Amino acid sequence: MSTQRESIHGQWSSRWIFILAATGSAVGLGNIWKFPYIAGENGGGAFVLVYLLCIAAIGIPVMMAEVLLGRRGRQSPINTMRELAKDEGRSTWWALLGWSGVLGGFLILSYYSVIAGWGLAYVLNSAAGNFAGAPAAEIKGIFDELMSNPGELIFWHSLFMLMTMLVVARGVKKGLEMAVRWLMPALFVLLLVMVGYAINSGEFMRGASFLFSPDFSKLTANGVLIAMGHAFFTLSLGMGAIMIYGSYMPGDASIAKTSMAVAIADTAVALLAGLAIFPIVFANNLEPGAGPGLIFQTLPIAFGQMPGGTFFGSLFFVLLVFAAWSSAISLIEPAVAWLVENRRWSRIKASVICGMATWVVGLGTVLSFNLWEGYTLWGKTFFDLLDYLTANIMLPLGGLFIAIFAAWVMSRESTRDELELGDGGAYPLWRFMVRFVTPLAVIIVFFNAIGLL
Ligand code: PFF
Repeated sequence: MSTQRESIHGQWSSRWIFILAATGSAVGLGNIWKFPYIAGENGGGAFVLVYLLCIAAIGIPVMMAEVLLGRRGRQSPINTMRELAKDEGRSTWWALLGWSGVLGGFLILSYYSVIAGWGLAYVLNSAAGNFAGAPAAEIKGIFDELMSNPGELIFWHSLFMLMTMLVVARGVKKGLEMAVRWLMPALFVLLLVMVGYAINSGEFMRGASFLFSPDFSKLTANGVLIAMGHAFFTLSLGMGAIMIYGSYMPGDASIAKTSMAVAIADTAVALLAGLAIFPIVFANNLEPGAGPGLIFQTLPIAFGQMPGGTFFGSLFFVLLVFAAWSSAISLIEPAVAWLVENRRWSRIKASVICGMATWVVGLGTVLSFNLWEGYTLWGKTFFDLLDYLTANIMLPLGGLFIAIFAAWVMSRESTRDELELGDGGAYPLWRFMVRFVTPLAVIIVFFNAIGLL
C-alpha cells in the first residue's frame, strides 16, 4: 500500500496512463538519435550487449526504486527526498539528490532542445521534397549546411522550447496524455516500416550483425561507461523525472510490472532504430561512427528513394519531434513542480522562467556546432562536455544514490509495503539488485573508466 500523501499537482487517470507517460519520457531522442550513433562510435555488438545488460540489471531495479520513492513522497524530487529522509529519521541533506536532478534535467534539456530543433528543420526539409532522389553526398550537404547556420539553429531551438513550455504550463495531464496516447504507437509502426525498407533495400544482414555480434576488442573502458550512462539516459533515470511521474501514479498500480513494460518498450524502439539505420549506413558506404549527425544523414537517403518518401519522411520527423517533446516535458517537470510547491508560483510562470533559462544555455550547444567548434576542453566541444557530464556522470551518480537510499536508508518495511511484490522471491531479488549490484556496478564502471582499476 502506498502512504496517505497526495500530490497537489494531480494524478494520472490510470496505471495505463502512467505507463504511457513514463514511456513518453523514456522514448525520445536517446533511442532514435543517440543510441545508433554511440553504438556506431563504440564498435557495435559488444557495446549493445553491455547496454542491454545494464538495462536489465541496473535500469529496471533503479526504475522501480525511483517510482517507489516518488509515489511514497508524492512531491517534487527535492521535497520528496527531504520528506522520505525525515520519515526514516535521516538527514534532510538527501534533498541534495533532488537538486542534482533538477540541475541535470536543466542541462540535458538545454541541448536536447537544440537536437529536437534539427528534427523540426527536417520536417520542413522532408515536406519540401529536398531528399527526393538525392544521393548520400547531397543529403550530408543538407545537414552540414544546417549545422553551419547558427541563426537557423537558434530559430528551431526556440520553437521547440516554446512547445515544451506550452505543454508544461498547461499541466502534465491535459497537455501530455493526448500526445502519448496516439503518437507513441504511430512512431513504433513507422519504425517497423523503416526496418521493412532496410530489409528490402539496405545491407540488412551487415547492419544486424554490426549491432548484434559482439567483438569485445572494439570496446573500451570508456565505451562501457557510455553504455551504462546511456542505460540511465534512455530510461530517464537518475534525475527525478521518473520519480516525479511516479508521484502522480495511482496507489494501487504495480510498480514492477509498469517499470518492466516501460523498459521493454524503450529497448524495442532503440533496437528498431538501429536496425533501420545501419543497413542504410552500409549500403551507402557511410561511416557508422559519423557522430550526432548519423540519423540525419542516413534516414533521408531511404526517404529519398522509397515510394511516398516525402510523406513518410515528413511523418517520421514529426513523430521524432513528438517523442522528443514528451521527454522534454519530463526533464523540466521536477523544477517546475518544485517552484509551484515552494515558491507558490503558477505553473505558467514556473514553466516560462525555467524554459527561458534553459534556452539561454542551449545557445552554447548551437554555437558548438559552428562558431565555437574549435573551442574544446579535453577534446570535447561545449555540447560534447554537457552530454558527457550529464549522461555519463550525473545520471549514474544520481541512480547510485537513489539505489542507496531505497536499499540502505529506507526500511525494509517501507519498500516492501510500497512495492507489494508478494511473498515469493521477487522482493528479495529487487532488494539484492539495488543494495549490491547497482552500487557495485556503477562504482566499478566509473573507476574503470578513469583508469584506476
Ligand atoms: N529518456 C530520454 C531519451 O531517451 O531521449 C531522455 C531523458 C528524458 C533523459 C528525461 C533523462 C530524463 F530525465
